[in-house]
Amino acid sequence: MLLLGGVMIAGMMTAPRIAAAKAEANLERVNALIARMTIEEKAGQLNLQNDPFRWRPEGVNPGDALNTDQAQTAADIKAGRIGALFNGVGAATTRLVQDMAVKESRLGIPLLFAADIIHGLKTTFPVPLGETASWDLDLAERTARAAAVEGGAAGVHQTYAPMVDVARDQRWGRVVEGAGEDVLLNRLFAIARTKGFQGDDLKDWSSLLACPKHFAAYGAAEAGMDYNSTDMSELELRSVYLPPFKAAFDAGALSTMSAFNDLNGVPASGNKWLLTDILRGEWGFAGFVVSDYTSEQELIAHGFAADGRDAARIALMAGVDMSMKSGLYMEHIPDLVASGDVPIERVDEAVRRVLMTKAALGLFENPYRGADVRTERRVHGSREHLALAREAGRKSIVMLKNDGDLLPLPKTGKTYALIGPFGADSADLFGPWSIFKDTKLAVSLEQGLRSALGAGASLTVTKGSDVEAPIAGGIEAAVAAAQAADVVLLAVGESTEMSAESKSRVDIGIPAAQLALAEAVAATGKPVVVILRNGRGMELAGAVKDAPALLVTWFLGSETGNAVADVLFGDHAPTGRLPVSFPHRSGQSPFYYAHKATGRPSKPTDREFTSKFREVPHTALYPFGHGLTYAPVSYSPVRLSADAMAWNGELTASVTLTNGGTREASEVVQLYIRDRTASITQPVRLLRHFKRVTVPAGGSVEVALPLKFEDLLFLGQDLKPTVEPGLFDVWLSPDAQAGEPVQFTLNR
Ligand code: BGC
Repeated sequence: MLLLGGVMIAGMMTAPRIAAAKAEANLERVNALIARMTIEEKAGQLNLQNDPFRWRPEGVNPGDALNTDQAQTAADIKAGRIGALFNGVGAATTRLVQDMAVKESRLGIPLLFAADIIHGLKTTFPVPLGETASWDLDLAERTARAAAVEGGAAGVHQTYAPMVDVARDQRWGRVVEGAGEDVLLNRLFAIARTKGFQGDDLKDWSSLLACPKHFAAYGAAEAGMDYNSTDMSELELRSVYLPPFKAAFDAGALSTMSAFNDLNGVPASGNKWLLTDILRGEWGFAGFVVSDYTSEQELIAHGFAADGRDAARIALMAGVDMSMKSGLYMEHIPDLVASGDVPIERVDEAVRRVLMTKAALGLFENPYRGADVRTERRVHGSREHLALAREAGRKSIVMLKNDGDLLPLPKTGKTYALIGPFGADSADLFGPWSIFKDTKLAVSLEQGLRSALGAGASLTVTKGSDVEAPIAGGIEAAVAAAQAADVVLLAVGESTEMSAESKSRVDIGIPAAQLALAEAVAATGKPVVVILRNGRGMELAGAVKDAPALLVTWFLGSETGNAVADVLFGDHAPTGRLPVSFPHRSGQSPFYYAHKATGRPSKPTDREFTSKFREVPHTALYPFGHGLTYAPVSYSPVRLSADAMAWNGELTASVTLTNGGTREASEVVQLYIRDRTASITQPVRLLRHFKRVTVPAGGSVEVALPLKFEDLLFLGQDLKPTVEPGLFDVWLSPDAQAGEPVQFTLNR
């Protein structure tokens, strides 16, 4: 109740109190339901199966014949043996399947429909790594929102996203799914995407329950090999790998997925310390934990559980609430409880978490939620979403190099040769985890360029090579096309197959067949613009590395061709910045900018007996944060408001940016710090703030960023956040390698 001028206004409650009252009502309803459930029905609520009902998105009829799989799943749903389904989307289908649960099962508990909506549903946005290159949090929130709208209309309630695994080894195939190597970017994008998916109110039909994954440290797989072991100090875990999860939970994410990997000898999906002590005990997480695809069953392969029954027991007791795909919970929970190996209280707790989430989604009031064929028609691939995909696409592109201002290219009067396996291709526009994409919504490079070109311009398209193998006569045809052109647009890189789950690579370079093509084309002497397709930081070599202009274009999704054309022809000056380092060579992996100094830091000169490889400097070819635009921007030396910071104080760091070009420039000013003397060795640089600013053509702007006491926090030897007095370096720079630092002292 609210007191206004001493008068109590009955019926008026504050928002937190309304939420608390609703949660209380939900809890009563859920507990009442649990009291009526058999142990089989309880196990059923914890059993998640993949959706075999892949009917047509429209025109599904109640009488449609079921195949064996569908008939079995339908029977299980009606018997209350399945509580959730994943990766079957479509309003008509989900409505019919929901009917089986609410109308034909004993308790009528609605199903939860989940799906891997990672970067769009029908409209495909850039892969998350690409979108992170925008350094634009608002954009990430908007694409997640649009994906949620499309998903909600298709009857989905939960998305298995965002992936918030910090990824510092570019060999790992799943780098493409996340926000790259930096902790701050991972935290901020985790928040933006969680908010975008979940919207303002989880009950809204267009809100998708977010599921930050994979908890935890999956991105640290040894040698970047997928599913591999991780072994790290608790300090590293808490400093680097856990913060993005915490950020997503603080932003309201109400589910999470336990990872495949073992961590310090204990598989994540059987790791009570992670799933219960930290997640619940320390962080107070109130949602539910779902295993990754059979990850609890894989405790057997890990050598951590004897058999399926044992695996189910260990996972459940560790804190995995819902089992994905294996069926082990359904199979073994009744007996585990009967034998006393698992207390019923633990089962009830897991069921309560799942049912409370269903209640928070509003499924008990409206089990069909947003599933609506007309809404699907309206929002799937809508003009608005495609415009957003194009905007996201062009903002994700990073220009690494532009010698002699080769870019932007004129739209008229020139002959262009588009060469390479990704020129006409439409299969590899989308990247991994685009299982629900509408392939009709696909603008290939060729299509995008053609529709941008104007009078007197022409474009030839020559494949030249397959992605990983030469094609007969390919190089000859490509050379002829290059010779006949003014400029070569070389579309090379990785296919989706090379950059996804289980697609780790020992060599993060461009396949030999494409390199040979690049050499031959470059030998014609024609200027070459490389349009790189990729899902990770790559090693660039030979004619690709030496090309005068280089654009990183990731997998940009539905609007790929238009987005690339926008940048290539200058309608949009490039604004993207690398969220991962591009090392000189694959063998530097894992290479990331925020590494430690070691006792023998490598130096550009005098390199003997310092920490480095023989062949290349201990730097990136293109560092984290790097990205050029169509105007040269220079930085003045950094200025600090004082050369000392008081305890709990604050400083301002500022720099003058000067645009020496004739176009306005958009610049991302990055504030990095280094703690020079700490009781735990600190990274050589650490991103603490960044700000996008516009610098007018030929003009200058002053950019000031705050440097706060909290920015100096790190985890001490006791794993507690601490700040220690001493000397600090500060950079305001265009990337993680550029610029000279200034110093200040923190006084206690
Ligand atoms: C992946 C998850 C994904 C799940 C369901 C697993 O193989 O690791 O990221 O959400 O499959 O499709």
